[in-house]
Amino acid sequence: MRRIVGNWKANGSTAQAQALCAALPAPPAGVDVTVCPPLCLLWAARGSLPPGIRLGAQDVSRVDGGAFTGEVTAPMLLDAGCVLALVGHSERRQQGAEDDALIGLKLRACWRHGLLPVLCVGETAAQRRDGSTDAVLAAQVGRVLAGAPPAPLWMAYEPVWAIGTGQAATPEDCARGIAVIRAAVAEAWPAAPPVPCLYGGSVHPANCAAFWREGGADGALVGGASLDAAAFVAICRLAGDA
Ligand code: 13P
Repeated sequence: MRRIVGNWKANGSTAQAQALCAALPAPPAGVDVTVCPPLCLLWAARGSLPPGIRLGAQDVSRVDGGAFTGEVTAPMLLDAGCVLALVGHSERRQQGAEDDALIGLKLRACWRHGLLPVLCVGETAAQRRDGSTDAVLAAQVGRVLAGAPPAPLWMAYEPVWAIGTGQAATPEDCARGIAVIRAAVAEAWPAAPPVPCLYGGSVHPANCAAFWREGGADGALVGGASLDAAAFVAICRLAGDA
């Protein structure tokens, strides 16, 4: 089973969300497809998606409800039809000043309510240059999972330098990062089966297959190309090829 998740980020209107969702066919056999629109477009997307494509959120609150102005909780996301939430995306780490402690609380909020967290980790360009990629990835995973019993989880390896730059990781970079992430999850959860691990960062139809054929990824977390129906459909179709 390959997994393709589209992260629309802060893009789209009601009309654009409806048009994009209506242009998506049901996923090919053996491919699990989820789209993550902005929160205010979840309902528009829900009404326009074909059967078989699931809804996700780009973030989730650490709290379950109450006097927390602006927060959107895991129960609310489930009520809106989401099955998963991205947690710890690098844009939230950098722009929202989220640290691993907060990200860990968000994972636990997902687990309390049965929402699947997709934990995003990745090194910056500076960390890559100074050779600390492996240590950064292992530390991000280790700190977030510390003390948590095994629970449903997908991982996403998203090198920060590859996001939105057009400069994707090589399949070798991908394979190495995913191996480090898998080892870190196995260290936190020694008895648990391996968790799916996606690759994200400048994924498009011409490079995607290399990430699962040679890069060891279980699928892709797609940003910009998920806003282009033809490109996103092509990636999903390629994920279904043997
Ligand atoms: P791009 O595919 O636009 O590089 O974005 C990747 C990403 O951040 C997905 O979460």
